[in-house]
Amino acid sequence: MTEMTPVTDTATAPKAVPALPDAQTVTEVKHYTDRLFSFRCTRPASMRFRSGEFVMIGLMGDPHPETGKVKPLLRAYSIASPSWDEELEFYSIKVQDGPLTSKLQHIKVGDEIILRPKPVGTLVHDALLPGKRIWFFATGTGFAPFASLLREPQTYEDYDEVIITHTCREAGELTYGRDLIEALKTDELLNEVIGEGFWKKIKYYPTTTREESPKMGRITDLMKTGEAFKDLGVPPLNPESDRAMICGNMAFNLELKDMFEEYGLVEGANSNPQHYVVEKAFLD
Ligand code: A2P
Repeated sequence: MTEMTPVTDTATAPKAVPALPDAQTVTEVKHYTDRLFSFRCTRPASMRFRSGEFVMIGLMGDPHPETGKVKPLLRAYSIASPSWDEELEFYSIKVQDGPLTSKLQHIKVGDEIILRPKPVGTLVHDALLPGKRIWFFATGTGFAPFASLLREPQTYEDYDEVIITHTCREAGELTYGRDLIEALKTDELLNEVIGEGFWKKIKYYPTTTREESPKMGRITDLMKTGEAFKDLGVPPLNPESDRAMICGNMAFNLELKDMFEEYGLVEGANSNPQHYVVEKAFLD
């Protein structure tokens, strides 16, 4: 893990006294569509993580109708900010009748969320063997761990090319990822720390399936026909040069795994680095 800047001791910063266990304070909220939003919050001073990992976050649930007791309502969320960031960022779906996201979507700056500071996950550089090109494959909110890894210096130290594919139903669902990649180009700190023009290693391939956009179709289908490789100007994945991380819905993860096995890629883990790793998107 690369630690770029020391983590600010949020305990000494002026903020409201936490009322919740493991409370962190919301510092920014952005809504993208009626189904998607992102937010940032304070980071516990002692919390370390590797870019690409996830943590449990949530809110207190409603009081039990009989006992009146309240319990925390927690879900696994990929951390969308990089390991060196002073704050934490999350990218979330809004499910109107979802136990957590029906409430979480209403958080405002200054509110508190619960964060259990025990990060884990397989979408980490440590789980991959060295290679030439890294692929990030996402659907929907599965973009979140890649939002972290795209801002992680090691991604550019380890690879010559960084390809990020993002398949969503509608064009508006691509906004978070597109804005983030666009912002990398003018991010003075990252250009200084990683190297001027580091972002030129990125090839961004957004596609939609249910609304018109410049590139339509599921990434899996576009790879099967060879169209994606032609568009990107790269050969199909092979075990010598390509490494990949997958984060999307279950059907997508399984379909890509099958395709990778055909390409001869082997699934890795923290304890056994190989050619690709998989995580499911954590939906409410
Ligand atoms: P589609 O619209 O054809 O189902 P969801 O919001 O349901 O999680 O889906 C997010 C995106 O992932 C959608 O564009 C969806 O396409 C796509 N998708 C779903 N299943 C697969 C799959 N097996 N392979 C590739 N893309 C998929």
